[in-house]
Amino acid sequence: MNSKAEASITIDVPITREDPDTLGNIVKTGLLGNPRTLPSKLFYDERGSTLFEQICELPEYYQTRTEHQLLVTWADEIVELSGAEELVELGSGAATKTRVLLDAMTRADQLRHFVPFDVDETIVRRVSEELVQEYPGLQIHGVAGDFLVHLEHIPEGGKRLVVILGGTIGNLPTIAAEDFLTSVNTEMASGDFFLLGVQLITDPRRLEAAYNDQKGITAKFNKNILRVLRNQLGAQCDPDKFDHVARFNQEAHRIEMWLRSTQDQTIDIPDLDLSVPLNKDEEIRTELSAKYDHPLAENLLICAGFEMVKWYTDPDQLISLALAKKP
Ligand code: SAH
Ligand code: AVI
Repeated sequence: MNSKAEASITIDVPITREDPDTLGNIVKTGLLGNPRTLPSKLFYDERGSTLFEQICELPEYYQTRTEHQLLVTWADEIVELSGAEELVELGSGAATKTRVLLDAMTRADQLRHFVPFDVDETIVRRVSEELVQEYPGLQIHGVAGDFLVHLEHIPEGGKRLVVILGGTIGNLPTIAAEDFLTSVNTEMASGDFFLLGVQLITDPRRLEAAYNDQKGITAKFNKNILRVLRNQLGAQCDPDKFDHVARFNQEAHRIEMWLRSTQDQTIDIPDLDLSVPLNKDEEIRTELSAKYDHPLAENLLICAGFEMVKWYTDPDQLISLALAKKP
């Protein structure tokens, strides 16, 4: 770190400038579709981000601690190979594992800029305040935006390592994931590195347990989508009238989370002129969480314009980090 540099925080908030009709249209189309769906970015307000942090600590949710350990083992090598001075994290959340990369960049005297990018403005602000204290001299340029819409808000910087951790890529359907990674690639310069965390296909019982925890935190997280729908779009709905459901879809190698209506009821969203009648036991899909193997993930990366550099995988083959490069 350049000891003369002043630590600083800039936060860009394109999410507040989003056309208000856009979210409404996505919600309307999703709720009227077959199956009925809601966009999973709506989990993440301040409460949703906190619930996700609690999920990461659960014994059943093996993903976070496994990826954390992989980063502890390999961060120095990843940072050295990348030569990056700027870390850009898409879907940065609480950026807990990110500290492992920031520490490695500090050891290599490479750390200059960090760009936390997340749809939840509260967490971008919180993480920026924390990190500027923890890493003296670090320049932070946060973006509170939708990474499917606002990627052009990533600031110009030095040589970059762009990361998507936690298996967040699995929350997008395959075609959307490919388009998203292509857009990420377009924002990068030749020679920049990209690190993608993927959750591997594994025993369905282990997978289902990770999304049906004993304490019921994942159920609260799932139902939070209805609270956000209420707060952001004025929806009239009661989260207590739904059950949390999470099951593995073998054919599509993905966990699907649903909200199952416990009774006949109607979700009304007056601002959207929308009234959605639900029968008892009818379900709304709130999240896809696709699991990958190496050929599937490599195909995604190569279609998006990246070149594979190296795979890092834990001994139980639960999580992989794909290090790739923009040629
Ligand atoms: N990277 C962290 C957090 C993963 S949770 C980890 O590995 O633990 C997924 C994160 O992506 C959340 O913080 C959520 O707010 C963010 N996110 C989800 N959809 C998003 C979108 N469309 N645009 C930007 N951020 C999004
Ligand atoms: C952020 N994302 C990768 C998590 C996952 O595993 O799909 C979100 C999550 N949903 C329920 N538990 C965790």
